[in-house]
Amino acid sequence: MEKEVTFNTLNSVHALNVHNVLQRVLSDLAEQGLYPVPSVEMHKALYTQQRLERELSRDSTIALGAFNHGVLIGFLWANPSQGTLYLEWGAVDQQFRRRGVFLHLLRLLEEEARRRGYHKLWLYASRKNTPAINCYLMSGYAIEGVHARHFFDWDFITLGKILDASSGEMALEKAGRQNVISCSAN
Ligand SMILES: CC(C)(COP(=O)(O)OP(=O)(O)OC[C@H]1O[C@@H](n2cnc3c(N)ncnc32)[C@H](O)[C@@H]1OP(=O)(O)O)[C@@H](O)C(=O)NCCC(=O)NCCS
Repeated sequence: MEKEVTFNTLNSVHALNVHNVLQRVLSDLAEQGLYPVPSVEMHKALYTQQRLERELSRDSTIALGAFNHGVLIGFLWANPSQGTLYLEWGAVDQQFRRRGVFLHLLRLLEEEARRRGYHKLWLYASRKNTPAINCYLMSGYAIEGVHARHFFDWDFITLGKILDASSGEMALEKAGRQNVISCSAN
């Protein structure tokens, strides 16, 4: 890891920077054939600066950024999902890749997830997205499911990492038993 890369939590102030990196990365993913073009278009339209301001300002969201001389060059954010933590998006700008930036972001995410009592992190990845899949495997995630002909007829996989089997109950308490039970009944 290069010395000039620093890491910090993100909030709504960083929404425009996240937006800009994400738009660039999404275009790259489509060009490289790693992600379905309709998904790219959907996510480009979905993650406006305003939407990201809302995402990054939620207390329940864990959002982390990597900075080079104060400029955002990588990020990830994760949201609670029924007692688990779902990794929504993560990316590193092209010219800063293969320096361990994302591995470090994943490590920090894990630490914070444990601190908040989550027992599991998980995510979807396009089966063609070898760079991302390798990175998650290297971080100790396991392939948990293969979803054939899934989003926009592309194969996707789910990857997950159990953090601490005994902390699952803590996350359930945190989410509020009432809410979890009434959600699952619907
Ligand atoms: C996936 C991504 C976030 C990785 O970021 P990164 O900072 O370059 O990753 P790291 O440097 O921490 O890589 C860690 C390991 O992952 C694997 N990896 C990363 N990029 C890879 C590539 N292009 N090809 C093969 N393996 C790769 C390697 O094992 C690497 O370790 P090594 O460099 O010692 O061999 C980055 O490529 C990216 O932004 N991609 C586009 C967005 C994306 O796909 N997001 C994930 C959506 S699920």
